[in-house]
Amino acid sequence: MRVAVYRRAHFNAAHRLHNPDWSDEKNRAVFGLCNNPNYHGHNYELEVKVVGEVDPATGYVIDLGLLKDIIKSQIEDRFDHKNLNLDTEEFKNLNPTAEHICYVIWQILRKHLDERYDIFVRLYETPRNFVEYPAE
Ligand code: NI
Repeated sequence: MRVAVYRRAHFNAAHRLHNPDWSDEKNRAVFGLCNNPNYHGHNYELEVKVVGEVDPATGYVIDLGLLKDIIKSQIEDRFDHKNLNLDTEEFKNLNPTAEHICYVIWQILRKHLDERYDIFVRLYETPRNFVEYPAE
């Protein structure tokens, strides 16, 4: 029996969307307020979905305590209260859009969760704007 298990988390981080290959004018036109040279912050809400078989012995797909600890140590501790452009290796050369952040988080979690699980990551940049990887 395959079941989906979810865990929510959040982190606050600053970023600036900018493409160094473009002029300042084009960056402002494309990214608008998110191109502010002095950065700005978001309250990111993260939703991690883990799909797998229910273990008959435990009745669990995954121990949610374990999932919580992995998200805390690998994602929250890495990104919370950071300037994504300046403080993180992941976004030194990668524009920190919600799409890229979501994908980076998925890649990190993929390395830390058993391959028998399917993983889906949803990232809310605002209560109304959110992305999901992989796309269905
Ligand atoms: Ni922004």
